[in-house]
Amino acid sequence: MNQDELKQAVAQTALEQIVDQLEEDSIVGVGTGSTANYFIDALAAYKDRFDGAVASSQASAERLKGHGIPVYDLNVVSEIKWYIDGADEANEHLHLIKGGGAALTREKIVAAVAEQFICIADESKLVGKLGAFPLPVEVIPMARSYVARELVKLGGDPVYRDGTVTDNGNIILDVWNLDIGSAVQLEEAINQIVGVVTNGLFARRPADILLLGTQEGVKTLK
Ligand code: 5RP
Repeated sequence: MNQDELKQAVAQTALEQIVDQLEEDSIVGVGTGSTANYFIDALAAYKDRFDGAVASSQASAERLKGHGIPVYDLNVVSEIKWYIDGADEANEHLHLIKGGGAALTREKIVAAVAEQFICIADESKLVGKLGAFPLPVEVIPMARSYVARELVKLGGDPVYRDGTVTDNGNIILDVWNLDIGSAVQLEEAINQIVGVVTNGLFARRPADILLLGTQEGVKTLK
């Protein structure tokens, strides 16, 4: 199977894990990216079995609506049982790097609300140590240079993601060469920099389940 087929397989497995538990008032949290898109497309077949979705990006909201799935503002939703989303990297502790699609802040918010975060990824995303993928950091535009200097002090090499404006109107710095020894500590340290909205480390709130698409089938890490 190629990478897209692995993503599709893992999205299908995530759907199978929740489909029997869908109720007419269920709200499904939906992430962003190509793997999440496969999940949205698979979910569409069951749109009459649940109430609707909360999306972590405008792009995913549009895709959900395109399938006729109602999309709710998070503020009118009190409970999300599952959040299903991809990742750029994952380790055995289910700590993740996310934000390759610039949706990290909304992803982190929906993941925080959800009872269970099911991460779906092809096997290339599982790493021994996080950090080969540059860590995305969402930044208030006027703080860009200041935050970049502070990230250098933390040992990283920040690169401005030219031409990208997040759904929240902010910019992204992609930070290369960080030594991510303690993901929780680094996540907190970066979030303490004034001007940072959030960073793409999902360690304080890791995934609860990682479904990994491999050539030997879909593996589950908990
Ligand atoms: C978007 C994300 C995505 O989950 C991540 O980039 C993985 O994308 P894909 O499923 O296309 O490989 O964090 O902000």
